[in-house]
Amino acid sequence: MVQALQINEDLLCPEAIEDPYAYFGRLRTLDPVHWNPLWQGWIVTRYKDVVAILHDAGRFSSHRMAYLEAHASAEKQQALAHYFAMLSRWLVFLDPPDHTRLRLLLQRASFTPRQLVSWRPRIQAIVDELLTQIEPDQPVDFVQSFAFPLPVLVVSEILGFPPEDREQVRRWTTDVALPFFLALGMEARQKWARAEQAAQEFGAYARDLLRDRKQRPRDDLLTAMVQAEHRGDFLNEDEVVANAVLLMIAGHETTSNLLANGLLAFVRHPAQIDLLRRDPSLIAPAVEECLRYDPPVTATVRWAREDLALAGQSVKAGQKLLVVLAAANRDPEQFHAPDQFDIARRVTPQQHTAFAVGTHYCLGAPLARQEGEVAFTTLFQRYRTLTLATDRLVYKPMVIARALECLPVVLG
Ligand code: HEM
Repeated sequence: MVQALQINEDLLCPEAIEDPYAYFGRLRTLDPVHWNPLWQGWIVTRYKDVVAILHDAGRFSSHRMAYLEAHASAEKQQALAHYFAMLSRWLVFLDPPDHTRLRLLLQRASFTPRQLVSWRPRIQAIVDELLTQIEPDQPVDFVQSFAFPLPVLVVSEILGFPPEDREQVRRWTTDVALPFFLALGMEARQKWARAEQAAQEFGAYARDLLRDRKQRPRDDLLTAMVQAEHRGDFLNEDEVVANAVLLMIAGHETTSNLLANGLLAFVRHPAQIDLLRRDPSLIAPAVEECLRYDPPVTATVRWAREDLALAGQSVKAGQKLLVVLAAANRDPEQFHAPDQFDIARRVTPQQHTAFAVGTHYCLGAPLARQEGEVAFTTLFQRYRTLTLATDRLVYKPMVIARALECLPVVLG
């Protein structure tokens, strides 16, 4: 009975942040499509419902801008003009048919098998460079020294941002992403102002770079986006700029969380490191198991486009749904012993939901997997002992991502 469910409805309460698997697991068992009165939306936790929603872009919209604009005053919309204009072109917030057109073009430009092969040596070089700076046998924060810098260096290099601009690009990226995350100590107004300014400045900067690539094509993703063509259709300037910014944001914190959450799972299960050392062919399923067991993105949001029934609940048109990828990945109906970290279960990319499924399946998944494979292989070859140097882990207070504040370890 729904009435019997005693749960803290604050999605940022310590129980939900410290152990989302127990928190959302209770919901999955007791009330799998649960109305959260504080968030004013549905929380969906069963694998089968999560997958069904993500596959059904016809009934479940990703059009976040429609929702934001409907809830923003005219004054606010004017103050956030550049920000709204940029986000309204982001692939991840579009529904078909706009999404279909943009995705086809972006897929032509990005993460092709040829590009992935050509990036691998550079990823290896960045991994080696970062590890050289870590002092062995001393406690080090793995997040700051490795998991955070690696993806931002990789993604800004493959997009083609000049090395001297990368720190500024990283700051803009952080600011544009601010409204999506809970940033403690910062008021909503301040977050919006910083996001608007970053959208304006980053937009102008990327546009200059893009015009340069039109004149002088290079072997980078910006050039590939400018040149991408499908049946005589091209991406326009605004679309390239907006989606270059999206790639920076989407490819950064997510992959950092894969590296940090994955390393944490391994150091807590050293037998799994030994297993991987004995059988290096397990590296691909090992990365999939990291993604399943402690996914970097906890949840995503959809909006119902019509009145519909879901697991016996009546969902009304316009209502939002928190689609909890992390709960789906621990659903015992889908995975045997889901709370065990076991690389030998050989989970396949199609079985888990860490990159979503269906229409919006992560465009950068092949790159993230490659970064994970290179990073974990190198770490376990280079160091004989990897130990946790704390007994208290702190996670950032966020509903949609699973991000450690820091991860003190000793690499010996
Ligand atoms: C382990 C790392 C990553 C995880 C866990 C992850 C997760 C996700 C998820 C769950 C979605 C679907 C969002 C939704 O449907 O609402 C998504 C979409 C997307 N991701 Fe990733 N991502 C990762 C890395 C990357 C990287 C490295 C890039 C690019 C550099 C990237 C680019 C994108 C893009 C462009 C989309 C939108 C796709 C679309 O709407 O069709 N992601 N990602």
